[in-house]
Amino acid sequence: MSRRLATVAVVCSLVGTAFIGSAVVGSVTGCVTAAQVRSVTYPASFQYIPQERLTDSMWRLARGVQDLDDTFGASTELADADRQTRVLAILDDMSIATAAISAPGQNTNHPTIELNLDRLQVDIALARSAAAQTPVDFAPARQLPTACLSCHVGGPGGPQRH
Ligand code: HEC
Repeated sequence: MSRRLATVAVVCSLVGTAFIGSAVVGSVTGCVTAAQVRSVTYPASFQYIPQERLTDSMWRLARGVQDLDDTFGASTELADADRQTRVLAILDDMSIATAAISAPGQNTNHPTIELNLDRLQVDIALARSAAAQTPVDFAPARQLPTACLSCHVGGPGGPQRH
């Protein structure tokens, strides 16, 4: 490592910025952001999924599963049409949450996600079309939590399979 890079490394670690392999970035004028490093260390086909977005989406999915459960729950006195509207809205939200972390046909930094997220998206779409049809069919929506089990052990939101 050249003296210049060593200096940058020291400065960067002093300010608490993640510093990884700035040599590949070429002319280094200051600290290197994690995104800049990724832009040269991962191929273009690679979709990097930020941890924060992953966690947000997962909690949104968890909320969706809970809301579906509440909507189907025996204690809910909902008119059929209201229940249908509610289920469709929840499924739409779960679909958006999944799309935010989806990388169809691409490599990601999360091997688990690469394998199973397409499947979750398909399951949500199937649940939605069944819930939208007349007569309404909620069975796929009720079974949706099992789609979480392709990545989670024990229950939705349980420890991840790796
Ligand atoms: C494609 C794989 C995959 C599927 C399918 C999946 N998850 Fe996850 N989930 C993950 C991964 C990976 C993490 C860990 C994120 C991390 O690294 O912290 C996670 C984390 C979570 C978390 C914890 C978030 C946190 O604060 O760390 C919850 C809650 C969760 N998932 C709920 C769900 C629910 C509910 C479903 C089904 C609707 C679901 N997940 C389906 C991969 C998946």
